[in-house]
Amino acid sequence: MGVATVAAALRGRTRKARRYHTDVLPPNLPDDDKVAAIRELLPATAAGIYLNTGSAGPLPAETVAAMREQEDRELAAGRGHPDSFEDAKERMAEARGALAALLSADLDAVALTHSTTDGMNAAVASLPWAPGDRVVTTRHEHPGGLGPLLALRDRLGVTIDFLDLGNGDDDARTMAALASALELRPRAVVLSHVLWTTGAVMPIARIGAAARDAGAVTIVDAAQSVGAISVHPDELDVDTVAFAGQKWLLGPEGMGGLWASTAAQGRLPIAAGWFAFERFSMDGDVAWQPNARRFEWTNFHRPSVTGLARSLGWLAMSVGLPWAFERAGRMAHAAHDRLASIPGVRVVTPKHAMATLVSFSIDGWSAEAAYEELTARTFAIIRTVPGVDALRISVGFWTTAEELDRFAEGVELLARHTPETVPPRRRLAVLGADGRPID
Ligand SMILES: Cc1ncc(COP(=O)(O)O)c(C=O)c1O
Repeated sequence: MGVATVAAALRGRTRKARRYHTDVLPPNLPDDDKVAAIRELLPATAAGIYLNTGSAGPLPAETVAAMREQEDRELAAGRGHPDSFEDAKERMAEARGALAALLSADLDAVALTHSTTDGMNAAVASLPWAPGDRVVTTRHEHPGGLGPLLALRDRLGVTIDFLDLGNGDDDARTMAALASALELRPRAVVLSHVLWTTGAVMPIARIGAAARDAGAVTIVDAAQSVGAISVHPDELDVDTVAFAGQKWLLGPEGMGGLWASTAAQGRLPIAAGWFAFERFSMDGDVAWQPNARRFEWTNFHRPSVTGLARSLGWLAMSVGLPWAFERAGRMAHAAHDRLASIPGVRVVTPKHAMATLVSFSIDGWSAEAAYEELTARTFAIIRTVPGVDALRISVGFWTTAEELDRFAEGVELLARHTPETVPPRRRLAVLGADGRPID
């Protein structure tokens, strides 16, 4: 194939890829029919009771098809033709556009990242830290948010002040703890929007405003909020918001996003490469991207960029975000009620400040023991959370009442017993050639 033919083939394939359309569900479907139709389009929801989107969500079939199509193109035509690089940049712009739409944000405010962790590191590192500076955080942060602070502490001698929030269920307590920490003039407040441990939603707008008044910026880990609940960073008075592609946005792993305020867009990143510059010259005469894209410091896996954009398109167009947020919230509240009604179950998640995570423990059971027993009995896909010795479920818009019932019945059984008294699980006997069970 000559160069012109390869370029034409790429263009042809690109046009074909753009024709790939979003599954369209008829409008005004009754909820149960809509959920049933959506579950068909999210095949992993049939692989068990899918209750761990807080780690990684089910992929839409359409996303995987779009990623495969992209991989096939790369296999057939390679990735080296300059036209294919132009195409990749267009796909990145599409993904950014879809993220900006999700957040009701300015396009300039959005950068692609590889994960929440990436975004948190980029945001934290962009501040001018000096030895002796202070930073405020909570005792409920994921390593993706606490990690960059520990690096500052151990590299530079920055002091970390941990807010005492309890389970994060009392905003007055949170705000009082923050007020005393702010008296020490920290450079930043770094915390999660929704705590990955207890599922509590933090009063981020109030925290952002208080921090700003004290001269500090707020850096938000939104791994458990963006895509799960409606998030509009412009309304939050914060500096940056980092989030994941693979969790509540139902995208591939290795993708995430960072929203940056106008002030944050004016700071320089700690690391940089091709994409961080609007104009680049090897003699150092460069122009930084005049927007959040200066935080895009390395390249991306093209099928994953396509996949993230496709998942976002699918959520917005096939599912409908307002419906998704409303239903996921409603089902999560129903799960909270049902679990809290079981004697011996302690739900850690505050009902008045919850999103889509529900964490709970069962009297007499360690989280690990309960996890083993419950998952073997109910085929639920869940996780344990460290720090609070609890099990955590992530409830999605695809979760059904029947699934929550089946799961809760498993919890009820455990709650009536201890690990020593729980009845043995039924086992499938495997028969040998002589018709006798094999041990
Ligand atoms: C609050 C929180 N922050 C960060 C992460 C890490 O996300 P990522 O894998 O996108 O870096 C997670 C989940 O794994 C999380 O729950």
